[in-house]
Amino acid sequence: MKISIKLGLWFFVCILIIETSSMMYLHRNIVHSRVHQELESLKARGNSHRDVLEISSDPSTLHHIGLMESQTDTEVVITKTNGEMIETSRNIDESIKEIINRPLRSIPNEGLILESDWKKEKYISTVSLFKDENGNSGYVYMFKSTDQVKNFISQLNKHFLLASLLILFFMIVTIFFLSKALTKPLIKMKEATKNLSNGDFSVSLPVKSNDELGELSNSIQTLASDLKYMKQERDDFLASISHELRTPLTYIKGYSDIGRKPTLNEKERIHYLDIIHEESERINLLLQELFELATLDQNTFSVVKERVHLCSFFKSIYEKVSPAFKEKEIQLNVECDEQLFLPLDITRFGQVLLNLLDNALKYSKEKTITQINVNKIEGNIYIDITDQGMGIPKDDIPYIFERLYRVEKSRSRTTGGFGMGLAIVKQLVEAHGGQITVKSKVGEGTVFTIVLREE
Ligand SMILES: Nc1ncnc2c1ncn2[C@@H]1O[C@H](COP(=O)(O)OP(=O)(O)OP(=O)(O)O)[C@@H](O)[C@H]1O
Ligand SMILES: [Mg+2]
Repeated sequence: MKISIKLGLWFFVCILIIETSSMMYLHRNIVHSRVHQELESLKARGNSHRDVLEISSDPSTLHHIGLMESQTDTEVVITKTNGEMIETSRNIDESIKEIINRPLRSIPNEGLILESDWKKEKYISTVSLFKDENGNSGYVYMFKSTDQVKNFISQLNKHFLLASLLILFFMIVTIFFLSKALTKPLIKMKEATKNLSNGDFSVSLPVKSNDELGELSNSIQTLASDLKYMKQERDDFLASISHELRTPLTYIKGYSDIGRKPTLNEKERIHYLDIIHEESERINLLLQELFELATLDQNTFSVVKERVHLCSFFKSIYEKVSPAFKEKEIQLNVECDEQLFLPLDITRFGQVLLNLLDNALKYSKEKTITQINVNKIEGNIYIDITDQGMGIPKDDIPYIFERLYRVEKSRSRTTGGFGMGLAIVKQLVEAHGGQITVKSKVGEGTVFTIVLREE
């Protein structure tokens, strides 16, 4: 069943129950109080006749009371205690007789209700007891036809019916629009997610409200753009990989073709085999780095931290890389606060620094300086790696941490990079709970800054 229908039905049933029960309650109360009012006024009338009769009960007074009542919609019957009628307002019928003949219990001073069943009986009735000046007792019976009450109630029923129909009509209209308005965004979102699963990421869900529905539509929108971005990234990545693989494979194929020629002398063949070997090494390296990054991406690797004395750690890194720097006549300096300790995974974090220093070395000219600074500022450890190399153009900076991204394809082809180093660095720094940023100016140099929280 559609959600709009379900919601609408629920609303309908709930409101119908509330509506019907309150209508019934109201109706009952109105009828009850109307009948009560009628009985009370009938009793009051009987009591006032009684008061008159207690002062004087001569035939002219009796007659006067009878006459008075014959002018109204109520009737009076005055009897002695033995049941003998002494005055009536008009000819009495069987139903009146039946009520008068009922045995009477003791009658309180304020009178007694004899018949209140307006539904079944022809009359509602009360009785009052009087004692005249001679000490004789009698009863003043009062009657009122139930026709009037019935009439009133049938009118009332008509009003209630009309009101109920009107309420029902407005209820249905309101529920129809309300459930439509409520479910419309849901249906749109359902369609959007269906499109998403079919691979159409161009979802547009306008956020109109800032309630739960708005939030949901916002999340779906974000999900769509994330998926779109990931798909784009995956496509780019695959394109880059196939491109990266194609170049060395072309070399390998080309040189193996040449190498197979029988006219070739041994020296040439060895030369071509060397090239083939070099290119296969390149492919091997690329696959290794890709594999490494894939592991990092899946978070299946673990960072095993131990408390490390930073200066000693940097010194060991320095020792590892300094021969390469010396060879290119680049001065490498390390400045480090002796007091600093940090929980680190030595192998993984060593990889970070080796990658960054490898870049500094690759992208700097001879006779420049590369500087490592380690400082603590406000509980954070800052590691700056500053070189005086060729720098990174402003437009490329946002992308250099992406996999297989290189500033100039030709620039690193000669130096042998794949554009994987910084992607690995970023993953590893983040796995340590840190952040890496870069500042660079073309022709002046580059600073990579790693910030780690001192735990
Ligand atoms: N210190 C730097 N100075 C100038 N350019 C840099 C520096 N570090 C990185 N880059 C630029 O950023 C790009 C991405 O660097 P990254 O380390 O990811 O790849 P790579 O060095 O080309 O290859 P790989 O590290 O996989 O061997 C590099 O191609 C280079 O153009
Ligand atoms: Mg690199």
